[in-house]
Order: sequence, then structure tokens, then C-alpha cells
Amino acid sequence: MATTYNLKPWALAATLVAAATTQSALAEDAHSYAQLQEVATPHLELDLTVDFEAKQLRGTATYDLVRHGDATEVHMDTRELTISKAEIWQDNAWQETQFTLAEPHETLGQELTVSIGEESDKVRIHYHTAPTASGLQWLTPEQTKSGKFPFMFSQSQPIHARSWIPIQDTPALRLTYDATLRTPVGMLAVMSADNELDAELDGNYSFSMPQPIPPYLIAIAAGELVVKEISDNVAVFAEPYIVDDAAWEWADTPAMITATEEMYGPYRWDRYDLLVLPPSFPFGGMENPRLSFITPTVVSGDRTLINLIAHELAHSWSGNLVTNASWRDLWLNEGFTSYVENRIMEALFGERRAQMELALGYQDLLENMERLAPKDTVLNIELGTRHPDDVFSQVPYVKGQLFLVYLENKFGRETFDNFLRQYFDDFAFQSISTAEFKEYLARNLLAKNPGVVSMDKVNEWIHQPGLPEDAPKPTSNAFAEVEKQMQRWLKGGQLKTEDWTTHEWLHFINNLPLDISSVNMRRLDEQFNLTQSKNAEIAHAWLKLSIVKDYEPARDRLRNYLLTIGRNKLVSPLYRELAKSPENLKWAREIYQQAKPGYHPLTQTVNEALLYPQP
Ligand code: BES
Ligand code: ZN
Repeated sequence: MATTYNLKPWALAATLVAAATTQSALAEDAHSYAQLQEVATPHLELDLTVDFEAKQLRGTATYDLVRHGDATEVHMDTRELTISKAEIWQDNAWQETQFTLAEPHETLGQELTVSIGEESDKVRIHYHTAPTASGLQWLTPEQTKSGKFPFMFSQSQPIHARSWIPIQDTPALRLTYDATLRTPVGMLAVMSADNELDAELDGNYSFSMPQPIPPYLIAIAAGELVVKEISDNVAVFAEPYIVDDAAWEWADTPAMITATEEMYGPYRWDRYDLLVLPPSFPFGGMENPRLSFITPTVVSGDRTLINLIAHELAHSWSGNLVTNASWRDLWLNEGFTSYVENRIMEALFGERRAQMELALGYQDLLENMERLAPKDTVLNIELGTRHPDDVFSQVPYVKGQLFLVYLENKFGRETFDNFLRQYFDDFAFQSISTAEFKEYLARNLLAKNPGVVSMDKVNEWIHQPGLPEDAPKPTSNAFAEVEKQMQRWLKGGQLKTEDWTTHEWLHFINNLPLDISSVNMRRLDEQFNLTQSKNAEIAHAWLKLSIVKDYEPARDRLRNYLLTIGRNKLVSPLYRELAKSPENLKWAREIYQQAKPGYHPLTQTVNEALLYPQP
């Protein structure tokens, strides 16, 4: 690779000593056992067999070692891994070395400590994963659309990479990787790396990721995958049943890349491809570099849910280029990305649509904050050793976004855009903490435009619960129109919905009065067929209301929905609502038990906490 990357000191080769690291660079990451200030692992070589029968990845992880000082051990993270051997490269040969696996910690997994002697600059670990690995899902052929091949995929963010690779699993580390994978013949394996568009399906695949990334962006998937190109640098990987629909749905992706480059500088990852996962994928999307992982539930046939693509793409700047140094700083990834996402939507589709999406996000945030403890509505959240998955909410997303909207309003769009662009350049390929961001903001925005925003205000946004009094309160004219129509309709009038997109429907359903009569529920359903909506978001909103209202005609669809979709954001609000009455809870537990084998480990954990709460 000719390109040089601007790395944090410990990630660079031996030119450095520990003293060269910047202050919060060695960010206290409470979620990793790694000791980067002693030894770092800036390059990984994976060699793995994907064994669908055993539901197991098996092989070796080999790391380059960079030492600072005289450490003779490297500390890594693991979770449910079986380690059979560790070796170091010494005297031109692999030599077996000692290792210890500590007692499991509920959240963090097991610390792996490997003796690396005084000289060696490579360590190799032989291991295999557990069938229950929290960062992998294994589907049988029967659980896929065509039924011909099994499917597997990873979800490493935030701390699940350690369940399929022994690794220094902290986003403060950046590493490059190469990988060799073996799968059954006829299947395609892909990674967050340089995927080939015309790979021969011989079961042998190799990859290289030359840009340094944090561990949570290492990703793998294998299944019956075909490719359809959208442009020179964008293609869709998907199971055959959906590849054409997805390529049509996401035809705007190349234009999104161009628009983002114009605002925030070059796209630095070569290709940008999209992978459609099975419906059990626990998230809407995951920004794995060069290959975003996307739920099929946004392939709605009308391109109204493509803000999700804008979001994952935006992470190519906020998140993948400039990375949160610990999970307490997640808002630096998700808040900035939500902001950029909305700017992309505005650039491509205009203010009306962007404003509707912002207003929907704001409503979600308010709803979320109602059930969160005040301390969990802080941007720079105090996690302790709680699992980041357990405190996942809209706060880092929408509160973070509103903070940036606030700054944009105060300083003006041009000044703020210039600031952001410079920020992405200055911290490219680095991981930063909230403290570092604040310092940068003070120096490069506040001090250069004195008297506009005080540091007290910044601290209020970042360290205080809830929203500041003068926070933006996004509204939408289009939604005001929907509300007017709703009032007329409730009095017996007709709805004019020909021009409505998913956004208006969501606003309409989410804001129906909770005392809506069953006659009116039926009237809506008969006219607009909401129970059978093919749009997973609209169906979700309607099904949630149907639980509150005990609207029987939607029960079959609700059952079917919970049995076929595993995207947590779409299923957990339904289980949460069902858990509110004893009868519904009993029904929900039955459905859940039936659905469980098809759910991802994350969806299982979150929803079991709702349906079987521990006192
Ligand atoms: N990176 C996130 C998903 C994530 C965050 C996984 C934290 C684990 C821990 C991804 O980019 C995301 O935010 N997805 C959203 C998309 C939405 C905001 C448009 C989702 O899946 O709902
Ligand atoms: Zn995101």
C-alpha cells in the first residue's frame, strides 16, 4: 500500500515510545482487557474454516506486535472461545508459548494473556468459536429463502468481535487485516474488506483490508450470495430472491456518495458495497467498511427508507474514519452520523423530507427518554462495566444530532460545514474521546467565533441529562398537515393519502389518539390495509397500536411478523407492549419460544429481558 495513514502513536511501527501518546489517546476503555500502552496489535492475519455443521469458526489469528517498553505479555479479549495453542515467532520458527484464560466476566468475557518473551514481534493463536458466539448468527438452509445453503454472519459492534476472534477488542486500537476463509463449495464469503465481484465459488476466499480500522468493524458473512452492480463503485450482494429489488431500492447510493464528498471530503475506502442480510439481522444496518450490512426490512419497494443507506454510508466519515475511542463516546459515532445522514437526505431529496425524518427521530428520542434513567440520557454516558448493548437508545443518535444542529444554527451552515470537514481530515484514521473532541471544538470553532456558544453550554449538552432548554425542537410542516387531516378524519371525514410516503403514515399512526374507537381502527384498516402492509415500518407502528387497542384482526399478522423478522428495533417494542398485560405476556412468551431459534443472540438477550424480567 502506497498510502500512509495518520495513525495514533501506538498503532505505528516501532518508531515510537509510550511517552508519545496523547493524553486521552490511551482512552480508558472499561470494556477491554487490552493494555495498548504496553503492547499493540496493528495487523491481523485470519485463517478460518467456516464449519456450518459445528456452527463454528476454526483456525488461527496471527498478530504483529508493537511493544512500548519491556512488556512480556499481550492482553486480549475473548468470549466463549476455545484456545488450543499459542505460539510466538522466534528464531525463524513458530514456538509454542504459555497463555492463560481468566475466569469469565459476565459483560467482558475472558481475558487472554499470552507470553510473548522479549523479542518476538508476532503471535499466533489457534482457536475455535462456540455455537452460541454472541457476535455470530448461524442459519440452517431451511431458515433461508431458497433453502439451498446455510447462512452465517457477524455483528461485532460493540464488543462481540471477541466472540469470534481473540483480539484487543477496544475501538482505541486500529488494525489492518488479511484473511483466508474456507466455506463449502458453492457459497460465497464476504468481509469488510476488498470483496471481489466475480469470485469463483470454490469455497476458498481471501481478503485484505489495507486501511486501519477498529476491531468492531471486522465483519464476515457467508451464504448463497449473488452480486448486482449499481455503478462502477457500488454493488449489492444478496441472496438471489432480493438482489434485483435491493439494487433498484438503493439506486441513489452513488449520488449519496458524491453529495457527501462535496460536503465532507473524499470517500477514502475505495468501493462501497451493500450486503442484504436475512430478516433476522438484529439491526437496520451496520457500517462495516466497504460493505455495509443491511436488513431486508428496508427494501420496501418505494425507496422511502433509504435514509438507512445514507446513515451507514455517512459512517464512512463519522465512525469509520474518525472513531469513538470507547463506548462511552458512542455519540461521536452515531450523533455525527445521524447529522450527516440527514444532510445527505436534504442534499438529495430536499428539506421537506429531511425535516420529516428529523422530526420522526425527535419523537423517538422523547419517547425513549421517558423510560430512561436521567443518567442514561447523558451523551458522554457513564457505563461502568455495564454492557453497551443494555443501554442502547436514541440518545447518542438524536440528542447527538440535535447538538450538531444546534451548533449549525448558531454558527451558520458554512462555518459549521468547514469545521466538520476539517475535523474529518484532522482525525482521519484515528480514535478519539469526548474530551479530545471538546478540546478540538473549543479551539477550532468556539474560540474562532467568540461570543456565540459558551463552553458551559457545550458541557450542558455533553454531560447533563435530558435536553437543554434552548435545544432545537424539530417540527415538520408536512406533519402539521397530517395532523389537520387526522382531526377531520376522526370526525368522519375522508383522508387524502395519495401523496403520503412512509413518513406521513408513521406520523399518522404514531399520533392517533389512544382512545381511538375500534370502529375507527377497522375503518382505517379496511381502507388502507394496514394490517397487511408490506412496509415493515408501517406494519410495526400499526401492530404496536393494535396491541394497545386489543385490535384482534391484526393478531395473525402480529404472530407472523414476530416469527419472521428479527430486527430488534422492530420486534422489541412489540414484546414490550405485549408484556404489559398478563394475557398478552403469556401469548408473547409462546410466540417468542417459537421464534427464538430464528433470532440473533442479541435479539434473544434483549427480548428475554422484557419477557422474563429478573427481579
Ligand atoms: N452502528 C450502528 C449499529 C450499532 C450501534 C450496533 C451500536 C451496535 C452498537 C448502525 O450504524 C446504526 O445506527 N443502525 C441504525 C440505523 C438507523 C439509525 C438509520 C439501526 O440499525 O437502526
Ligand atoms: Zn449508526
